[in-house]
Amino acid sequence: MKISMTDLLYALSFALDSVEHDLLGVTTYHAGRVAFLCAQTGRAFDLSDQQRLDLACAALLHDNALTEYAKSEYSQGVDLLGLHEAGQSFPDLGTHCTLGERNIEHMPFFPRVRGAVLYHHENADGSGPFGLSAAETPLYAQIVHLCGVLDLRFSYGTSEVGKFDRTHAFLEGGRGRLFSDEVVDAFEERVTPGMLEGLDTTHPDDLLHYQLPYVEREYGNDDLTHIADFFARITDYKSRFTHDHSQGVADKSRAMAQFYGLGDDLAAKIYLAGALHDIGKLIISEDVLEKPAALTHDEYTYIQTHAWYTFEILRKVAGLEDVTRWASLHHEKLDGSGYPFGKHAIELSGIDRLMGCVDIYQALTEERPYRGGMLHRQAIEIMRDMAANGKIDGAIVDDIDACFAS
Ligand SMILES: [Fe+2]
Ligand SMILES: [Fe+2]
Ligand SMILES: [Fe+2]
Repeated sequence: MKISMTDLLYALSFALDSVEHDLLGVTTYHAGRVAFLCAQTGRAFDLSDQQRLDLACAALLHDNALTEYAKSEYSQGVDLLGLHEAGQSFPDLGTHCTLGERNIEHMPFFPRVRGAVLYHHENADGSGPFGLSAAETPLYAQIVHLCGVLDLRFSYGTSEVGKFDRTHAFLEGGRGRLFSDEVVDAFEERVTPGMLEGLDTTHPDDLLHYQLPYVEREYGNDDLTHIADFFARITDYKSRFTHDHSQGVADKSRAMAQFYGLGDDLAAKIYLAGALHDIGKLIISEDVLEKPAALTHDEYTYIQTHAWYTFEILRKVAGLEDVTRWASLHHEKLDGSGYPFGKHAIELSGIDRLMGCVDIYQALTEERPYRGGMLHRQAIEIMRDMAANGKIDGAIVDDIDACFAS
């Protein structure tokens, strides 16, 4: 299957940035700006377009495990948002580096960036989480570190003036301590005052499209599975209520594709759609998603926007048109009462309907912190009622029954 790798990464980083913004109060599009600054700084090292693209990829994904890390810190009572607001550093910072490097290990688009995520918090004097000096830290990691620290510290996404002078003073003070001379020199040589001051006015995706080559690649079914698992893991970490929901929907939709004999290629695409269907939840605020009490009408409506965001995130990825459709229509109903588009039966294909049914089946049968998972039989009964009321496809419910009964 041919997908645009660049589109996919930009889409993903938008979702990841929203998480970072929500959990840690970081300005939105942090990773996008960092990627742009890294690609720009990389020019000073005569990196090829492809190498700068790899560097930008590492930058886009440098904090991919932040949800995973933040969740475990919050569960131990550490208030990361409070620490960030007070300008204090986070405990066990190396954890998100280790988890982040592990998450991208099997991603199919990433041959040259080993260590860039793992070591993106190392300081030149060896005072970072893994105690590596600048000489021991891979170049890409050093560049991501410098650009990441600067964007957090000087909020390049805001329209404040004087960013360049403040940045310059900070970089000079950080030479040899935070950053190596060669990376500071490279940044100062390639990132001009006008560029830095103007960074808040252009969307980082547009900057990256302008800066970097456009790469479309053929992905095999194993690659698709790795991409899918990566997305599912990040989405599922967002909510402890539904900690393996995306993975469950992916597994069960693929099982259904096999049940129908749809063939390996289609099954792999359906698996990817299952993994991505709730990716829009990354945009939904933690407070509402994790609210322990009943939701108000407004909150319920707000949560429904996750399906819209799934559409919004995926629609920009060339090659992913079918997957986008199957993933974002999972809350549509045959009688037009679903969301986000209010489509009717005639507009919903078999796979659209299947994705909706599998989502319901998975939600009913999975365990939640406040209840156990429902038995297969009970779930099917509820779904038969929904089918009788014209909401979902009764034939698909029968097939799900046949496929998962044992
Ligand atoms: Fe980080
Ligand atoms: Fe959903
Ligand atoms: Fe779902």
